[in-house]
Amino acid sequence: MSTPTPTLLVFDSGVGGISVADEIRRALPHCRLFYVADNAIFPYGTQEESVLVNRLLELLPHLEQYAHPDIIVIACNTASTVVLEPLRAQTRTPIIGVVPAIKPAAQLTSSGTIALLATPGTVKRQYVQRLIEEFAPHCQVIKVGSAELVHQAENKLRGLPVDEELIARELAPLLTGQTPPDTVVLGCTHFPLLSEEIRRALPAGIRLIDSGDAIARRARFLLQDWHPPVTSRPTTLNDNEFLFTADTEPARQMAKRLHLHGFDKVRLIANGITELAQKNSAT
Ligand code: DGL
Repeated sequence: MSTPTPTLLVFDSGVGGISVADEIRRALPHCRLFYVADNAIFPYGTQEESVLVNRLLELLPHLEQYAHPDIIVIACNTASTVVLEPLRAQTRTPIIGVVPAIKPAAQLTSSGTIALLATPGTVKRQYVQRLIEEFAPHCQVIKVGSAELVHQAENKLRGLPVDEELIARELAPLLTGQTPPDTVVLGCTHFPLLSEEIRRALPAGIRLIDSGDAIARRARFLLQDWHPPVTSRPTTLNDNEFLFTADTEPARQMAKRLHLHGFDKVRLIANGITELAQKNSAT
């Protein structure tokens, strides 16, 4: 491994990737996390595919130069389902993408009906359709896209109230078919942050699954040649850094609470890519 402490760059449009970062930290407590919330163009779920592809292809090289990660985790289904291939062609750093857990859901269901709860962008993706055709051809798959849940998850992490009636309304289309799903795939990294509220809004016994644990296992596999030195301790708060790509009021509110999620060092950059490029050329 190139660095004494492996660094993982975890990337999302907002704070959803924290649900993945938590799993990574559990699996790899000695690693350093560098988290980026691309709040300058949040939310991703309602953006055109080409906007996301161009954005990530432009932003990621600057972030790599800044953080020198050993692994990049695109902790965003909306982006991963459209950008992984061009991104991998652009860098030699291993990239782990987060995509909806259709395959495990299809293996776990007993009723044969599963649901995908994701952003409006993700539910429309050809990538997702291919996952369904390959791994769940025997299942009925109900797809529900919600941008509102993403905002509710952001509110929750900002310490604001969550609107559970709105959550119930957003989830209602999951239950209108003849056979309700017995397994719901949380295909947006923001949604595990609302798993308690989602559970309360759904009938008892419905299983929720997400990709966080599988991503952490993949990261551990990629780092298997690395072992913490005998004297090493788990990373402390100060080793982990959180960066917002825009200095906004919601980001400032969130910044005050990020220590609760393992990040003490928070940077808000006012001018996205330009400022990052300047920082990089100054070092
Ligand atoms: N957390 C992201 C995902 O997994 C995207 C949320 C958004 O910005 O719409 O899809």
